[in-house]
Amino acid sequence: MGETLTIRDNRTGETYELPVSEGTLRAKDLFRIRDADGHGLVSFDPGMFNTATCHSSVAYIHGDKGILDYRGYPIEELAERCSYLEVAYLLVYGELPTGAQLDQWEYDINHHMFIPENVKKLIDAFPYDAHPMAKLMSAVSSLHAFYPESREADLHLSPHLQIRRLIAKMPTLAAFSYRHSAGLPFVYPRDDISYVENFMRMLFMMGERDYRPDPRLVHALEVLFVLHADHEQNCSTTTVRTVASSGNGPYTCVSAGIGALFGPLHGGANEAVLRMLREIGDVSHVPEFIRGVKTGGARLMGFGHRVYKNYDPRARIIKSTAHDVFEVTGVNPLLEIALELERIALEDEYFVTRRLYPNVDFYSGLIYEALGFEPEMFTALFAIPRTAGWLAQWMEGANDAEQKIVRPKQIYTGPARRHFVPIDQRG
Ligand code: ACO
Repeated sequence: MGETLTIRDNRTGETYELPVSEGTLRAKDLFRIRDADGHGLVSFDPGMFNTATCHSSVAYIHGDKGILDYRGYPIEELAERCSYLEVAYLLVYGELPTGAQLDQWEYDINHHMFIPENVKKLIDAFPYDAHPMAKLMSAVSSLHAFYPESREADLHLSPHLQIRRLIAKMPTLAAFSYRHSAGLPFVYPRDDISYVENFMRMLFMMGERDYRPDPRLVHALEVLFVLHADHEQNCSTTTVRTVASSGNGPYTCVSAGIGALFGPLHGGANEAVLRMLREIGDVSHVPEFIRGVKTGGARLMGFGHRVYKNYDPRARIIKSTAHDVFEVTGVNPLLEIALELERIALEDEYFVTRRLYPNVDFYSGLIYEALGFEPEMFTALFAIPRTAGWLAQWMEGANDAEQKIVRPKQIYTGPARRHFVPIDQRG
């Protein structure tokens, strides 16, 4: 006999035996439990704290142990040994590429980095002070107009071409958004340098004949891209899958994911961390700031995670990458404040009992700033690598016969049914 859960409904005296598989109760089975009026039992889970919405083989997190794996490989090994494009291939296709597969994949991505000129004009049409994420979101959603065969999640319609196109174009779109904000001319991609180097060149090249960023900085950004490539069913990935559930193709879904990522509680957190560190201003103000957090005056941005109740493994790698970057760029003066915040928070009863540890965003902003990025670019730097994860999850959802259009329930709290009152009789 399989595993079951026996439930006795004290409202009706009925007993039910519900199947349990993979440690999970099917929400539909709960609906079999009816009250005296025949209403089925519904689970209430705002924020989907304890609701699995899909089967997925892309990423695995063990929040209590601080483990993150992509397709079974520990994030620490991938960050140390792989390029971002190698990891993107792994996420999309489920296996690390062979040498020949990687060569072909890199070639394909390199040859799709140009964007349609009209998308460039679209970016140009934004006000200069528009947030790069607003431009990125619009530019990505516009791509389905340029590649209309991608509109639907029909897997006969060249999803692999769309996947290559989007992974390839993200750095170009993000770099053009940035150069537009800075009032600088666009720099076009080259087909003979790596993905990350191309991105840095499109961002930072000025009058140099052959701009080449410091390879140690290219490596640091490569590591950050690997760490941000996927994180299973987080807010933006759930958004991608939700939009995909009505049959949408990759550009529409990823642009919705970019919107979700934009929020300060998700991808916008590292921008908020830097703002917070600047507001604190000096290491001597840290205890007072922590007191304010504990009395509910502010959140300690970059701390806490819905899933990790231990040190976020990505934060550990980022912290050591920060030291490598600072060897090249000089130490970011805000680092001292960040280290002191972490030191105090990790000992403080408020944070310890709530199991609040640094997350991926706590140190990433400091590195990005040292690399020369404006804070407004930070979330775009998250969106570029996360595109591989979003697309892997999009494709997994589109291939999953179990997936249905997303349509949750609600608990209605409005007025009971009432009848129309003509305007001259309303109080
Ligand atoms: N600072 C202070 N207190 C916090 C923090 C924080 N950063 N995070 C959580 N808490 C407290 C809450 O006030 C709450 O306390 P209470 O039980 O006394 O009410 C308790 O810890 C639980 O917090 P929730 O908000 O219920 O936890 P949830 O899982 O919903 O939120 C989240 C997770 C959004 C990440 C939260 O920890 C947070 O706001 N952190 C700061 C923003 C941030 O760094 N986001 C990046 C997340 S990583 C990523 O998206 C890439």
